[in-house]
Amino acid sequence: MSQDREKAPHGSAAQRMFGAQAPIYATSHVHVHDASLDALRRLAGPGPFRWAVDLGTGAGFTAFAMSECAGRVVATDLTRPMLEQARRLGQERKLGNLSLVQTPAEALPFAGESLDLVTCRVAFHHFTNLEQALDEVRRVLKPGGALVVADSVSPEDDAVSRWMNDVELRRDFSHMHNRKVSQWETMLAERGLTITGREMPRIHLEFNDWVARTATPKAEITALRRDFLHASAPVRKAFQIQPAGDDIHFSWPCLVFRAVKA
Ligand SMILES: C[S@@+](CC[C@H](N)C(=O)[O-])C[C@H]1O[C@@H](n2cnc3c(N)ncnc32)[C@H](O)[C@@H]1O
Repeated sequence: MSQDREKAPHGSAAQRMFGAQAPIYATSHVHVHDASLDALRRLAGPGPFRWAVDLGTGAGFTAFAMSECAGRVVATDLTRPMLEQARRLGQERKLGNLSLVQTPAEALPFAGESLDLVTCRVAFHHFTNLEQALDEVRRVLKPGGALVVADSVSPEDDAVSRWMNDVELRRDFSHMHNRKVSQWETMLAERGLTITGREMPRIHLEFNDWVARTATPKAEITALRRDFLHASAPVRKAFQIQPAGDDIHFSWPCLVFRAVKA
């Protein structure tokens, strides 16, 4: 990570990327519904939760799912055009218990110990300061409250992990870091958040759709395609890389967990 990225204000790259691409994320089939959303629903449980907050809500699909088991859901995101998509889709679904708040996950505008449930799906790896966001989650959760996260994770092998984070950053300049499962376990334990359930689904992706979603420059797409097709055997195996005509199918490992505040 370069010094500029470290010094950038919360999510300025994310706002540029997701601001421009918001309508595409609103119809992206992997975001509308996939195995990670099903796992997140299962691990959140039936509720009912009085107050739930979804972080990095994007076009709102996780917040919409949580609106079925919560009295009130606040969908939060740093990027205004994403929240506009969430507002439009929430209105189409006639959800009466959904509110929207523009905020970085690293500085939440909620009182301490005020929330029963915090969710976050495929967004933590975009946060400028993931650990600060976790500190905030710990602060705002009530004792006994739960954090339920689904996020892409990198394998424990350093070389394979580096490969994944490298291609992610070249494809999407707002990518920060896919952590390893062991790193998540340490960060949660350090904050007194106890994992009470987990699943490991895969996020299935198609290369052409994946690079189109982030408007990756043409020259980079060519270089990325070559790197996927000529990846080492451990990388091809870890990410299930399969040529498919003029496309490439692959998948990221995804950690979905429920962690409870003591
Ligand atoms: C892939 S989208 C999220 C998808 C969504 N959670 C879902 O379930 O469909 C990632 C989102 O994270 C948001 N984001 C990036 N950095 C952020 C930050 N520091 N704080 C809050 N949101 C952030 C982006 O604006 C974007 O909308």
